[in-house]
Amino acid sequence: MQVVEFPALKRSPEVKSGGKTANADDFSRAVATLRCLNEKDLELVSEEILNQLASPVAMIPELARHLLEAGGKRLRPILTLSSARMLGYEGDHHLKLAAAVELIHGATLLHDDVVDASNLRRGTKTANIIWGNKESVLVGDFVFSRAFELMVAAENFRVLQILSHASGVIAEGEVLQLSTQKNLDATFEMYLAVVEAKTAALFAAASEAGAVIAGADDKTSAALHGYGRNLGVAFQLVDDALDYIGAQDALGKSVGDDFREGKMTLPVVYSISRANDEEKKFWKRVISDSTQNPEDFAQACDLMQANGAVEETFACAKHYAARALEDLSAVPQNEHTLALAALAAQSVERAY
Ligand code: IPE
Ligand code: IPE
Ligand code: MG
Ligand code: MG
Repeated sequence: MQVVEFPALKRSPEVKSGGKTANADDFSRAVATLRCLNEKDLELVSEEILNQLASPVAMIPELARHLLEAGGKRLRPILTLSSARMLGYEGDHHLKLAAAVELIHGATLLHDDVVDASNLRRGTKTANIIWGNKESVLVGDFVFSRAFELMVAAENFRVLQILSHASGVIAEGEVLQLSTQKNLDATFEMYLAVVEAKTAALFAAASEAGAVIAGADDKTSAALHGYGRNLGVAFQLVDDALDYIGAQDALGKSVGDDFREGKMTLPVVYSISRANDEEKKFWKRVISDSTQNPEDFAQACDLMQANGAVEETFACAKHYAARALEDLSAVPQNEHTLALAALAAQSVERAY
């Protein structure tokens, strides 16, 4: 197979902050700045989320709260809140939308952890490990439906369209990923289609929803959609590199899940495209044939570091982060815009 070239990388501005290359602490600071700017709103969003989880069926709030109170970065609701506030919105419907966005994310995580057989999320055991797969799937459905009730309550038809469409696209992305699993011929384009659907669609919809509820014109809402989409792609690319080279404690998730499941993420796609005959046999055995020995994960990590696949994955993430920054040039410039720019610039070197 041909090495997958990524020519656009050469044109990308380098993602830097304050004249130096970003690092994991800078990412934490960017998230902290956004949290600070949206502090009061985020408290109200958390309250709204908890209200929505109420049910006379005791297992529903117990299981859902286990995930939703475990924290998480809350990046997607932050995108909704900051987009709305950046454009001077002074109502309160953006709170419902931000809560709906985090509920959609939470529902997809409940389902995703079943599909990926993951045992650690947000630094704690996954709901599927504690309660079981059936329980996680069904409570995930409940959480989705609560998100839809909130979207309806925001009384904006366009926003309802944007977020409900994104929910379907996420599911398509997860199914598409299943169909590329263990397929050694998967290409960069196939991988990108999965990432755009399963992750970038919600980042894009979250940013755009904040703009639309604030009454933005088409150009501004399209720019914020683009920002979210490009940030989302960068974010998932980094996530997929961290699934190999990340630190479990910082991530709050297990590393190696993608390897065990035979997911054709970009570090693997690039590694296979650069493999010699012996390495090709290795990838076939561990990915296609699902025959894995305890030492294979470390060998996969070594191979992808040595052949530049990890570095190239980060370079690709930088390209998308730079595109997210470019999108912000078309929106009003204020403290929210600056903080969103810092998030994009520093997302590439995050450790969690
Ligand atoms: C996890 O998203 C799923 C991916 C798209 C990689 P986050 O990394 O935003 O998860 P939380 O919400 O902070 O736990
Ligand atoms: C997450 O994909 C995307 C969705 C939840 C739809 P991953 O499976 O790569 O994310 P993690 O690693 O479990 O967070
Ligand atoms: Mg997963
Ligand atoms: Mg992952």
